Amino acid sequence: MERNAGPLTNSFLGKPPCDGGKPYVREPRAFLASSRACYPFILPPVNPALDTLLLAFGPEGLAVPERTLFLGAEPHPALKDWPGVLGWQPFKPKAVAWDTAGFRRVDQPEGAFPCVLVLPGKSRDETLALFARAYDLLEPGGLLVASMPNTAGAARFEKELAKAAGSIGSLQKHKCRAFHAVKNDGWNLALLAEWRSAGERKPVAGTEFIAEAGVFSPDHVDPASALLAKHLPGDLRGKVADLGAGWGFLSQEIARRFPAVTRLDLFEADARALACAEHNLAAFPEVARFHWHDVAAGLGEVGYDAVVTNPPFHSGQKTDVGLGKAFIHAAAGALKRGGRLFLVANRQLPYEAELEAAGFSWRKPAEDSTFKLLFATKR
Ligand SMILES: C[S@@+](CC[C@H](N)C(=O)[O-])C[C@H]1O[C@@H](n2cnc3c(N)ncnc32)[C@H](O)[C@@H]1O
Repeated sequence: MERNAGPLTNSFLGKPPCDGGKPYVREPRAFLASSRACYPFILPPVNPALDTLLLAFGPEGLAVPERTLFLGAEPHPALKDWPGVLGWQPFKPKAVAWDTAGFRRVDQPEGAFPCVLVLPGKSRDETLALFARAYDLLEPGGLLVASMPNTAGAARFEKELAKAAGSIGSLQKHKCRAFHAVKNDGWNLALLAEWRSAGERKPVAGTEFIAEAGVFSPDHVDPASALLAKHLPGDLRGKVADLGAGWGFLSQEIARRFPAVTRLDLFEADARALACAEHNLAAFPEVARFHWHDVAAGLGEVGYDAVVTNPPFHSGQKTDVGLGKAFIHAAAGALKRGGRLFLVANRQLPYEAELEAAGFSWRKPAEDSTFKLLFATKR
């Protein structure tokens, strides 16, 4: 049975259902319970790329399939009316949002679906590899639908997909493009193989580490983390946490150089990066523990002697200093009194006042033209 998407009215496509000219507002949990509610709280809007993607479906567009796999899944009120949607989402905060909204999620999608939706990530290789993965997970005749903001290169990626698929459909709305293609015999299999291989794990240049497209700094050691590693004090010991551990550069340095560290907890929101970190720290099973975790929600664990971090300062494409500040508070909540925080950041990021507010005394032991180190002690 096929059915249409249902209430794809402007209530989910850029305007609130009872707007009166006000900003797009949604109530956090209940927005899925009642797709026609008059929402009382102001929240960030649903991802406009997802709004645009869902515009492709509906009475005059594509038919809503019976089963759908959503790569890069994010919740949307209209998806509640779809019969079977399975999500894959490697970024913990978004995975939690998806789960909380009541959708089903899988860590490793398998099988063949009549429809695969794709909300791509940031990097070229990651995006093309996701297109190839979507193709692999489609049944013959199945539909691939992707959507991206124009600022993320939507037109360029639409052309790339057209090169592989031959024929492509497209629509533009909300400064985004949604484009779709059907899996048939006309696809360029050699190009798909190239894209698949671009998304595989690869050595990080000049190191023995591996990383994959889409994770932070997959091609080289981040210079900020290298600066922090160089200045870590020789007396690092005990129970240590690495917040936003990525593919594990800082943690591996600690595990290798500091035998007095008895436990090393890697907290990382990107499941793909964490899997690379597990590989990169395979030689240290007695100390290293891996947590797929949203650090902004606190660590849920206390008693640390030290915390190291090179905190993120982007949410999607936007600078988000709040994330680094949340990391500082998570560290404060997890450290023992007298415990030490070793943080590296871009020079312009205003973390000093936050350290004070979180109950640290701090100093700046080193800086260069781009980065500063902030070393702090919990009072
Ligand atoms: C600047 S990178 C540092 C990575 C790693 N420490 C290194 O030096 O290569 C920040 C890391 O924080 C992760 N991250 C972003 N938001 C997060 C969150 N809410 N909770 C945990 N980790 C997060 C990112 O995926 C990224 O790997």
